[in-house]
Amino acid sequence: MEYRSLGRTGIKVSELSLGSWITFKNQVDVDAAAEIMAAAYDAGVNFFDNAEAYAGGKSEEVMGAALKKLGWRRESYLVTTKIYWGLQDGVNESNTLNRKRLIEGINGSLKRFQLDYVDVLYCHRADKNTPIEETVWAMHNIIEWGKAMYWGTSMWSAAEIVEAIWVAEKHHLHKPVVEQPVYNLFERGHFAGEYARFYKEYGYGSTTFSPLASGLLSGKYNAGIPDDSRAATTNMGWLKESVTNKDNLAKVQALESVAKELGCTISQLSLAWCLKNPFVSTVITGASRGSQLHENMKASEVAPKLTPEILERIDKIFGVKEEEEE
Ligand SMILES: NC(=O)c1ccc[n+]([C@@H]2O[C@H](COP(=O)([O-])OP(=O)(O)OC[C@H]3O[C@@H](n4cnc5c(N)ncnc54)[C@H](OP(=O)(O)O)[C@@H]3O)[C@@H](O)[C@H]2O)c1
Repeated sequence: MEYRSLGRTGIKVSELSLGSWITFKNQVDVDAAAEIMAAAYDAGVNFFDNAEAYAGGKSEEVMGAALKKLGWRRESYLVTTKIYWGLQDGVNESNTLNRKRLIEGINGSLKRFQLDYVDVLYCHRADKNTPIEETVWAMHNIIEWGKAMYWGTSMWSAAEIVEAIWVAEKHHLHKPVVEQPVYNLFERGHFAGEYARFYKEYGYGSTTFSPLASGLLSGKYNAGIPDDSRAATTNMGWLKESVTNKDNLAKVQALESVAKELGCTISQLSLAWCLKNPFVSTVITGASRGSQLHENMKASEVAPKLTPEILERIDKIFGVKEEEEE
């Protein structure tokens, strides 16, 4: 496993990491979570991602119980969580980054995890209604109180992140250090556009999510929707549409021939493509079972095989023209 700097912080994260969205609690109980996390840890993963909203808080409980069972030294791994949507519908309790919610939110997460602190606390989305000063001060205080080591953003615009950094610099507060964006062969736009200069100038870290587009980029949907797959779970209408879309499936099938040539699986090739981006600090993977985890961790070995020629072929498959890549 290679380790990369989390942006300009002194923290190193494994280039492949593990998250718990959809899986923990819904598909995976404490024992299975511990087994998957142990396989990841043994492969060198030191970054475990979560959010208060995952399974209505239960995903944090499952991860916390699994950590307890595993008994690892707290210093040897990083745990993250995210706040925004909330767990209640109250007027000050959902879709907000107000001070009260952030502080009550982190206290709730720590209780569910049975931990004293998380390593990164993310604002799960930007909040257009709370003044950015209020959010930055609350995140600063949470760090000062030792409840989080660093803070970050998820799916914020570059302009919103820059504003938060400026506010923090103006008041000598802890700045956000990392963004958590979606990034995979289908949704590859994040590092372009307004972010292209941003990552270079600010040295912001990035912990990217859904590298397999929720499993589509494993090839598992090429012959229909398997009963035990994410797309077969409830409330996944949007995913059903995406994994049965003929254009999407044609691209995955074309990718399969490249994977075969390189002697790897489509999943490994898709993850390796994410790893090739030098602005990515860690690629957060997801797994509903140990076998997927074992397969995915080998993506690090595939990344060096992605020569400029191979990358160009992959771009062609996904219909990307050279200028779009800049
Ligand atoms: N910040 C945010 O807003 C946000 C949003 C989404 C995710 N995330 C984070 O990013 C993490 C990863 O996202 P993700 O779970 O969407 O990642 P993903 O890699 O796109 O999808 C993971 C799912 O794909 C299937 N899969 C994985 N490896 C496979 C393999 N080798 N063969 C066949 N199927 C395979 C599994 O689902 P099945 O077996 O059930 O089909 C697995 O749960 C999340 O856990 C979460 O921590 C963050």
